[in-house]
Amino acid sequence: MKIPIKKLQNGFTMPVFGIGSWQMGGRHEQDFTNDDKADIQAICNAIESGIIHIDTAERYANGHAEELVGEAISNYKRDKLFLASKVWNTNLKYKDVLTACSSSLKRLKTDYLDLYLVHLPNPDIPIQETMKAMSKLKKESLIKNIGLSDFSVERFKEAQDYCADKIVVNQLHYNLIFREPERKGLVDFCRENDVFLVAWRPVQYGMLTDASIPVMKEMCAKYHKTPSQIAINWLISQKNIVTISKMRKEDHLKENLGAVGWEMEVDDIEILRCEYPGQKDVSDSVPLI
Ligand SMILES: NC(=O)c1ccc[n+]([C@@H]2O[C@H](COP(=O)([O-])OP(=O)(O)OC[C@H]3O[C@@H](n4cnc5c(N)ncnc54)[C@H](OP(=O)(O)O)[C@@H]3O)[C@@H](O)[C@H]2O)c1
Repeated sequence: MKIPIKKLQNGFTMPVFGIGSWQMGGRHEQDFTNDDKADIQAICNAIESGIIHIDTAERYANGHAEELVGEAISNYKRDKLFLASKVWNTNLKYKDVLTACSSSLKRLKTDYLDLYLVHLPNPDIPIQETMKAMSKLKKESLIKNIGLSDFSVERFKEAQDYCADKIVVNQLHYNLIFREPERKGLVDFCRENDVFLVAWRPVQYGMLTDASIPVMKEMCAKYHKTPSQIAINWLISQKNIVTISKMRKEDHLKENLGAVGWEMEVDDIEILRCEYPGQKDVSDSVPLI
């Protein structure tokens, strides 16, 4: 299937749905007992199904997730894919950013990234030097676009002030339960400033599969969709929002792809926004600083 594309006013485009790689090959360290072949196969399955956006980071499995992604994409034409990686927040000094990017490219066995993100702010390192390095990488065509991740409105504005290139993405923990981007003005900010909000953890590790919740039950019946499909579509039916999910199981991939290619009515987006129970104001894993 063809994954629909969204376009910013500045011309930058992204598919509405992609695959993530957090917990592929390990968590923060490489897990030598992990079934790497299954992770590589999962990425290949996603690409075969039409997914082109693959999200990874040097932080995931201490670089090993990038190696798995590199292995998986080696079977496909590079220019048909949208590859995103991230520099971890201990590597945000000028030279460290350049070195980190070079190492990521080696692990991914590619010569450029479609998107390179600052994974997390680090208040101890001036963002000015980080952004100077990001611009240099873009000038050298090692990265095509610059993004941020888990940046508050204030920190995003500060980073943009120090960056001659347009920052096109803020990756944020956002789903029906975790609403920090709404509560802290980031959903509006992204829309008003022509930036994509890439929502991570769209199914909250499978927590959003509960079909017994009345408002979810109602939406599933109305759209003939499963809770995961409703949860993902609720994100991508909103302006300037795209999402990524990690799916090792083929059933999860197939199910989540059913979230794509249709649009929820605006009234239903708002009903879910108001009525979904157990909402949290702040991320439980990466609260904004
Ligand atoms: N920028 C950041 O700070 C940040 C933080 C976290 C994540 N991310 C990125 O965002 C991506 C997505 O977030 P995430 O992986 O944390 O969360 P997620 O996609 O919401 O959840 C992934 C987990 O849910 C399972 N799952 C997927 N679809 C399902 C379905 N339809 N029904 C039941 N379970 C399902 C997966 O199982 P299987 O794998 O077994 O299929 C996996 O265990 C990450 O992989 C990563 O690339 C970025």
